[in-house]
Parts: sequence; C-alpha cells; structure tokens
Amino acid sequence: MCSVDIVSLLGINENRALPLVLVTRRLPASALKKLQSVCEVDLNRDHFGLSVNLLCERIKDKLGLLCLVNDVIDRQVIDAAPDLRVIANVAVGYDNIDVEYARNRGIVVTNTPDVLTTSVAEFTWGLILSIARRITEGDRLIRANQWTGWALDFMLGMELNGKRLGVIGYGRIGKAVAARAKAFGMNVVVTGSLSSGSKSENLLDKEDDNIRWVSLDELLVSSDVVSLHVPMNAKTKNLIDRRALTRMKRTAFLVNASRGSVVDENAVIWALEEKLIAGAALDVYESEPRVQKKLLSLENVVLSPHLGSATRETRTAMADLAVSNVIAVLGGEEPLTPVLS
Ligand code: GLV
Repeated sequence: MCSVDIVSLLGINENRALPLVLVTRRLPASALKKLQSVCEVDLNRDHFGLSVNLLCERIKDKLGLLCLVNDVIDRQVIDAAPDLRVIANVAVGYDNIDVEYARNRGIVVTNTPDVLTTSVAEFTWGLILSIARRITEGDRLIRANQWTGWALDFMLGMELNGKRLGVIGYGRIGKAVAARAKAFGMNVVVTGSLSSGSKSENLLDKEDDNIRWVSLDELLVSSDVVSLHVPMNAKTKNLIDRRALTRMKRTAFLVNASRGSVVDENAVIWALEEKLIAGAALDVYESEPRVQKKLLSLENVVLSPHLGSATRETRTAMADLAVSNVIAVLGGEEPLTPVLS
C-alpha cells in the first residue's frame, strides 16, 4: 500500500471532490496526515467521542468511517450513512460493530490484527507478573506509608517457574503469550474458546513440546495462571462464569486482556471474595470506563485501564493500518485486513 501513489489510486484530480471520511477521535499525526492527503476528513478532536446523535448526524454524508473500540457502530449508525463504504476499526477486536449488518449493506469492515500482537502479549506478561508477585499491591502499600520492613514471610507471591499457564484462545495473541512462557519456565496448555479442542491440535507449533492442547475444563482445573485471548462474541460472552471459576485452583490467577464481557465480572468478584481463586489481573471491563467499586476494594486484583496495545509504536501502526484500509477501499482496492468472520 505504501508504495502505491494513493492520490492516483483514489482517482483524485483537481476537479473531483475528495471522499468524505469521519474520524471519531484524535489520531497519530502521521496517520491523520496521510488520510487528509487523499480524503476530506471530518475529525472529532474530543477525547470522549461522539454521542449517538452526533455520530448519526456527522456520518450522514460520509463514504468512510474510522473508529475506535469504544465507538458503538450499530444498525442505527450504519443506517444513518447511506453512502458508507468502509468502517475501519482501529483495533483487532470488532465487537463494537454490527459486522453482519454492515456486510449486508455492502460495507467493508476492517480491523488491525498483527500490528498489536507483541504489545498485547508483553502487557499480558506484565499483568501475570504483577498479580503473581503482588507488585501493584506492594506499590499501594508503600504509597500508604505502611511498609514496616523486610521479613521472610512478607508479601509472598507465586513463583512462575515450573507452573502451568493456561491460554484460552490460541490465535495470534494467545500464541505470542504462550511463546513467552518458556522464558519463565512455565509449561503451557491451550484451548480454543469452548470445550474440547482436539481438532485444533494441528494449530500447535509441532516443534514446541512445551505447549499442549487440552479441553477448556482440563485447562481450568490444572492451570496456575489462566489467561484469556478470545474475541468477544455470542460464544465467548461470560465464558468465565461462576462454574468456570469454581473449576479453577484456589491458588490460581485469572488474567484478562481480551474483552471485559468474556468474564462475568460479578462472578469474578464473588470468586475473589470467597477465595475460590487467588487473584485476578484485569485490563478490560464489562462497562468501560466504569469499573465496579467492589473490584477497587480487593487487594488481590490488578486493574489497568485497557492498555493492552498501548505503546507508541503499536498505536501508530494501528492507526496507519486503519488509514490504509480506508484508502484502499475508497480507491476500489482490496482492504489490507478485512474482517472476515
Ligand atoms: C483493543 O482492545 C483491540 O481490540 O485492539
């Protein structure tokens, strides 16, 4: 895409109006500049995004939409845009978009896979280390001026070496998380989102004998750390519910850097209060940016504000890819990363 002359790709000349594109939030400057060089951009500069009414109003005359995970692009919004040809989500997940409805309207939906895999995998390990070694809990203790000194039995955590990591969702990110387990001496079991995954064993890298495919139940009962990497959809909604939590070891940790609704948040609070699991590290929540008060009061929880892909490198690459998708579709080319499911 970069080598293509995007002006000629879009068939732009002085006599033709540039295609109108709505961008729902601020973008990295380089990505915005690239989009502005070939499209007329209606940019919402407000950090909080657009209300449904404003979104419907501003999308009316647009051919392209560039949006983020926290923009809900449902039927109402899609119906408000009769000329819309492309919805480019600056995210790998796309549960914020009614993809099927858009597709039926002939609108291409794109996402940003691959470019964020490393960032999210690294962040997941940050969560694992933080919860297993009580790093944020210790930080809070010091800030509260409550550290009284080193002691043999003070703030003991769980060593990762020799323990088992269970990865639910063995896609790009799940694989990247699993691959890094070797460095910590952990063995890995993986599964798809649901039940027995024997058919998918061929997805495993055969030379990696550190990783074994198991059923969801075996993963839950045997893992010391359970990490979620599934997309959010009807099959995965509340995948981790009370039942699943009771299957986990009492000494195990739950880590979620996928989507909030993959876990039943009330069930997690219940399991933590009842000490059915040892702790949870959460980067995502059911009703972002709202975080349940009860979670805030629990010590054995690490909470981060949906930062999985939040590195300068990755966010710039995500915006660039989304812009390239818009330009490709409006130029009559195939998108680089269409949502296929
Ligand atoms: C972020 O959550 C993403 O899906 O990219």
